[in-house]
Amino acid sequence: MKVEEAKKLVKPHLTTARYEHTLRVAETAVQLAQRYAYEGSIEKVALAAIFHDYAKYRPLDEMKRWITESFLPKDLLDYHHELWHGPVGSILIDREYGINDPEIREAIYYHTTGRANMGKLEMIVFLADYIEPGRNFPGLDEVREMAQQDLVKACWMVSRNNIDYLMKQEATIYPDTFHAYNDLTRHNGGNTHDKK
Ligand SMILES: [Fe+2]
Ligand SMILES: [Fe+2]
Repeated sequence: MKVEEAKKLVKPHLTTARYEHTLRVAETAVQLAQRYAYEGSIEKVALAAIFHDYAKYRPLDEMKRWITESFLPKDLLDYHHELWHGPVGSILIDREYGINDPEIREAIYYHTTGRANMGKLEMIVFLADYIEPGRNFPGLDEVREMAQQDLVKACWMVSRNNIDYLMKQEATIYPDTFHAYNDLTRHNGGNTHDKK
């Protein structure tokens, strides 16, 4: 599928703000792919980013049905519905558009939580979603800076910030979010707290 076609397909499913976010994620992801010499095609990077929030505005009962009736893990239903659109989106793009490239699927599936052993495209979309230029919240500059230097360390920061945020909200945290953090911490050489 061509990038321009993907944009046209995604647009009616998103709000204007979310669509613009999507375009910025795609641009950021392509930049990261070039910086970190992603081995796959740039088109693939753009497609994963363009479809990453595809299921964001599906009705909750539809997403629930996909989780219940597909191979998706049922424990998703025990967690906040914000976590559902990634996994459900990864199924929808296959069913609706025949996009079944495993790297694209996984980048979309895990873009909210991350997971252990993320591939390069997964990390790129995970990070691009967090740092795209429209985002603005405390701690972001540090991640943006690291994104210029070290993909794994920047993803580790995102993962750490996610857990920190969720704990401050006293929210439940999906296991993959912890698995991402633990795995990225190990890849950073162990107890890699920010040394300021
Ligand atoms: Fe998302
Ligand atoms: Fe997003």
